[in-house]
Amino acid sequence: MNASQVKLIQLSFKEVAPAAEVAADVFYSRLFELDPSLRHLFRGDMQEQGKKLMQTLALVVTNLRTLDTIVPAVQKLGARHAGYGVRDEHYETVGTALLWTLGKCLGSSFTKETEEAWAAAYSLLANTMKEAAAAHVLTAV
Ligand code: HEM
Repeated sequence: MNASQVKLIQLSFKEVAPAAEVAADVFYSRLFELDPSLRHLFRGDMQEQGKKLMQTLALVVTNLRTLDTIVPAVQKLGARHAGYGVRDEHYETVGTALLWTLGKCLGSSFTKETEEAWAAAYSLLANTMKEAAAAHVLTAV
């Protein structure tokens, strides 16, 4: 991710943040539309879950220039996700739902460049989580 991509992500997230609850609702609706079988993995209150997701995204977006400082927290998050029953292929569906949600929330300011920047950031995040989940599963057997 280059400096202009970091800027695009930070500026676009600023636009979404005031409507974080709506964004989270849109996101989960789209996610369960794309793959209804994911619904049973979520056992808690979805409003709370939406808040946690948006808070984590905010933390990542704030720290995009110093990602190494949050890698340990992201790895722990990935390891916990293995325990929630999340598998590698689910990250792709979540990524699709996330980009779709950003498009819905941002409208015409969701340019191709902004989309590519988000896709790159999500890939980084998802890959770090998946690697940590795999290592976690290996050490758990
Ligand atoms: C960038 C990717 C993701 C982020 C930032 C993220 C963030 C979070 C956060 C902050 C929590 C709260 C619990 C905790 O901290 O351990 C959580 C829980 C959870 N996430 Fe994710 N997540 C991501 C990807 C996924 C994917 C790919 C799935 C697959 C469907 C998923 C399914 C779940 C489930 C099932 C829970 C537990 C819900 C419950 O306890 O009811 N997440 N996620």
